[in-house]
Amino acid sequence: MYKILMTYDNTEGLDTLFSSKEFKVDIHNKPSQEELKELIKDYNGLLIRSEVKVTSDIIDIAGKLKFIGRAGTGLDNVDKESATKKGIIVANVPGGNTISAAEHTIGLMLSLARHIPESYKSLKNRKWDRKNFVGTELFGKTLGLIGLGRIGSEIAKRLNAFGMKIIAYDPFANQEAAKKNNIELKIIDEVFAQADYISIHSPLNDSTRGMINTDAIKKMKDGVRIINCARGPIVNEKDLSDAIKSGKVAGAAIDVFAKEPPEDWTLIDTDKVVVTPHLAASTDEAQIRIAKEIGEVLVDFFTKGIVRNAVNTKK
Ligand code: NAD
Ligand code: MLT
Repeated sequence: MYKILMTYDNTEGLDTLFSSKEFKVDIHNKPSQEELKELIKDYNGLLIRSEVKVTSDIIDIAGKLKFIGRAGTGLDNVDKESATKKGIIVANVPGGNTISAAEHTIGLMLSLARHIPESYKSLKNRKWDRKNFVGTELFGKTLGLIGLGRIGSEIAKRLNAFGMKIIAYDPFANQEAAKKNNIELKIIDEVFAQADYISIHSPLNDSTRGMINTDAIKKMKDGVRIINCARGPIVNEKDLSDAIKSGKVAGAAIDVFAKEPPEDWTLIDTDKVVVTPHLAASTDEAQIRIAKEIGEVLVDFFTKGIVRNAVNTKK
């Protein structure tokens, strides 16, 4: 029997796993790093979302672990190199929440452009204020995407229909495919200089950590609006907050933060910043799709030896 440690408590979509006699699944919701260190020694499989960090010290002591399943897309919380060295499969569900994340990003852009959160708050406080919430259209504006993968591409498709001009920076994107989809690939400084809205959809890695900082913002248009639904540490929160206060940046919409839950509230407390607590993937459809798929990937791995959705790379 395979012992599986699940670090979140939503079991929807996992019927096959829970009903199988070949698995014993224990749920420990969001264990601390210390708790995880104690627990992990006993398990063959681990299921995680973004809250749990599978660092090299956890992997070192995980003597029986063969499979880490990430119910979601981002894998910046798993030390993939250490896992690979120990022969542990790391698998995710790359496309399961793409549409949800794209729709949420567009929702945030519209909220920002049309002051929906502030006017909602004002009206709920019994104030009929139409003067202070005059917005701007997306039509005719330039959207600069940083990262043209699954989510970036879905956003481009939808915002083309809004009449936005779409430009993108992605070092690995295909020029021809982008052109077909009405997207112009540019170098990053051109995206900074030309975009009215900059939306980030790259992974968090050494090349993107802190990418949106004071130096980058200086290269942007005055009055630019910045959206981050990718990963918090890609944006330097203090630099962005200062740029909004100075008027250089007209506003920001942020779903992901340097620390979650946040420890520094500077950016969240800044006026003209629309925020959601890492909700881009949180739809009924995406959660069930992802839960089902990661469950199937895990079951196939242990019972049939089939490796799917693995992200391990050997150097
Ligand atoms: P993806 O892998 O399909 O696309 C990422 C793209 O970024 C790729 O095309 C890649 O070539 C590009 N890229 C890599 N390095 C880059 C760099 N230095 N500069 C610019 N582009 C670079 O990933 P995706 O599924 O589209 O997800 C995008 C991001 O959104 C990830 O960070 C993911 O973790 C995050 N995400 C967040 C939520 C949420 O709930 N907020 C939900 C899903 C995904
Ligand atoms: C993802 O990477 O899939 C999203 O950020 C959602 C999540 O972390 O659960």
